Amino acid sequence: MPALAHKTYFNYGGQGPLPTPSLEAIQRCWSTIQELGPFTNAVWPEVEGIVARLRQRLAGWLGVSSQRLAFTENVTSGCVLPLWGLPWTPGEHLLISDCEHPGLVAACRELARRHQLQIQPLAIADLRGNAEQAEALVLERLEAALTPQTRLVVISHLLWNTGQLMPIPAIASLLHRHPASPWLLVDGAQSLGSLPVQRAAAAADIYACTGHKWCCGPEGLGVVALSERLLAEARPTLIGWRSLSDEGSAEGGFHADARRFEVATSCIPLFAGLDQSLQLLEAEGSDQARHQRIQGLATRLWTGLQHNPALETLLTAPPPAGLVSFRMRDPDAPSPEAMVNALGRERIWLRSLESPACLRACTHIVSEEAELEQLLESLAEARVPPQAERSSRRAR
Ligand SMILES: Cc1ncc(COP(=O)(O)O)c(C=O)c1O
Repeated sequence: MPALAHKTYFNYGGQGPLPTPSLEAIQRCWSTIQELGPFTNAVWPEVEGIVARLRQRLAGWLGVSSQRLAFTENVTSGCVLPLWGLPWTPGEHLLISDCEHPGLVAACRELARRHQLQIQPLAIADLRGNAEQAEALVLERLEAALTPQTRLVVISHLLWNTGQLMPIPAIASLLHRHPASPWLLVDGAQSLGSLPVQRAAAAADIYACTGHKWCCGPEGLGVVALSERLLAEARPTLIGWRSLSDEGSAEGGFHADARRFEVATSCIPLFAGLDQSLQLLEAEGSDQARHQRIQGLATRLWTGLQHNPALETLLTAPPPAGLVSFRMRDPDAPSPEAMVNALGRERIWLRSLESPACLRACTHIVSEEAELEQLLESLAEARVPPQAERSSRRAR
């Protein structure tokens, strides 16, 4: 992974580094397409094979049939395209957790504005104890927040800010028992590649993922798993030739399966790159084994942070996966952004978050114990500037 050279990297939840074999697979695929001719009869079997192989592999990773998978460009489009295709009636309620990504929240707000829906918050940002307690509390709060008008629940599988894990299968069962059977939209940005997702992906109506974070694939390719009932009720939204059952004619209608949410021309070499990255991860062990390693490393970091009296982890129990968020106890301490900048000068890369204001370090299977020690030492020496600095912000 060239991206890991000469630096200590903790931003896997922002973007995973691309392994050299994946970069080579992208280059090889691009060359093959050019050599065969990019729009020739000779190239189509090659292209179809690459797409079908990745769809099949992802079906295994997500634990659903390949007919339930649509390729997208990223997590956000995987959430938004099917969401906008659902039937809405004015007055219905959208219950959105207070830990969702701003892009998805904005899309829900606009949906609500156009269809006269009401948005209601589901408070989960304060669930910082162990995962079991958090799971029990989120179910309790969800049950209390549901109304006869609730038509959609939006929640992430692994919360990008606190690092807490949500009990998606239990949430799905609760919603199925509810008389209105609200749709369940799950943002899987932080989960695919970091923990087993099959049960959650199979239980949600929309389970959206990307290849460019924990899967260490190239940016620009994501996947969404859609439920059978959603496929029966949702209309395609952003429509193109790939949405059509007969791509040469608009008369035949849309694909009956999830491909109705695919649009048009995509960059095929990215498919080859993601397929290679997934194979490399598979070679490192099962998803349970990889999750265990990620969680073990995150727990070491979390434990090390407990020994620094100047810092406070957001989670009060060891993290359930690879996200470790923390902040300075002293309100006059440098801002998280200033600390990120200072650590960056030491080539240690983590990120700051705005809500709640904190720093976030991620551990992946490639993280090394020495890297954790290095971060802990730098934080202990508090080699951070005396006052806050500004820096450009990115919401990803
Ligand atoms: C929870 C969550 N949702 C959505 C996104 C946006 O991802 P994408 O750019 O793939 O849509 C991110 C990116 O960090 C995220 O962490």
